[in-house]
Amino acid sequence: MTIDSASTSPARAPRHLAIVMDGNGRWAVQRHRPRSFGHREGQKALRATIEYCLRNGIGSLTLFAFSSENWKRPDEEVGALMQLFLKALDREVDELHGHGVRIEFIGDLGAFSAELRERMHKAMRKTQANRALFANVAVNYGGRWDIAHAARLAAEAVTRGELAADAISEATLAPYFSLAEQPPVDLLLRTGGEQRISNFLLWQLAYAELVFIDTLWPDVDATVLDSAVHEFHRRERRFGKTSAQVQASSATGNA
Ligand code: IPE
Ligand code: IPE
Ligand code: MG
Repeated sequence: MTIDSASTSPARAPRHLAIVMDGNGRWAVQRHRPRSFGHREGQKALRATIEYCLRNGIGSLTLFAFSSENWKRPDEEVGALMQLFLKALDREVDELHGHGVRIEFIGDLGAFSAELRERMHKAMRKTQANRALFANVAVNYGGRWDIAHAARLAAEAVTRGELAADAISEATLAPYFSLAEQPPVDLLLRTGGEQRISNFLLWQLAYAELVFIDTLWPDVDATVLDSAVHEFHRRERRFGKTSAQVQASSATGNA
């Protein structure tokens, strides 16, 4: 991995980029290869994306790698994905650590084999002090699971007497969600042409800009990511205000 000087000013980069990495299966089928070949090729796009974030000052990257619904796929494909995760953890963690990447797995990890779980925890422990990039990998993740999990953690805090039930609000619930310590998602990119969330981050996407592109995930490179970031910059983020208000505050430098 080679990291060159910044091509986009960090001040303009989205602080948090989330990606639904979709289209691996179709990419492989177009080449008359098994779907698992597409998943393997997708790893190159993943490396290019991490490099892109490091180079452009994007501090948080959240990748949808395996949804809570993906267990419904044929056993052979699920097995191939699990093998791929194991190999990737063996191969990539040291290099990512060398680049200052903090790896975080989000989702219900309890469903994975003990071997895979141990390696995920090892990668998280090893990289926990790194700050160049938070790379969050969503595995056995569902946005509804995240909401239910946050509700359960809050209920447990109520039972322990640490939180009053009538003190539950957006602000007091927020810390129980995945990614609570990172900035809100600015840009959600979905590759592969579908225009849906597929139970990815629900709470965390509340005010994200959504960009859907037809490019299949294995074809993603820095040029594709650059055009998604440019599309993000073309959007006016109003957060409920009027356009005139937003323009007035950006002229005076107040967000
Ligand atoms: C996304 O690619 C990767 C995973 C869901 C693991 P797909 O495997 O969904 O590819 P398509 O959508 O079938 O082309
Ligand atoms: C979403 O892609 C999950 C991941 C990219 C890991 P899917 O391909 O599983 O989504 P649907 O089923 O087409 O909505
Ligand atoms: Mg898909």
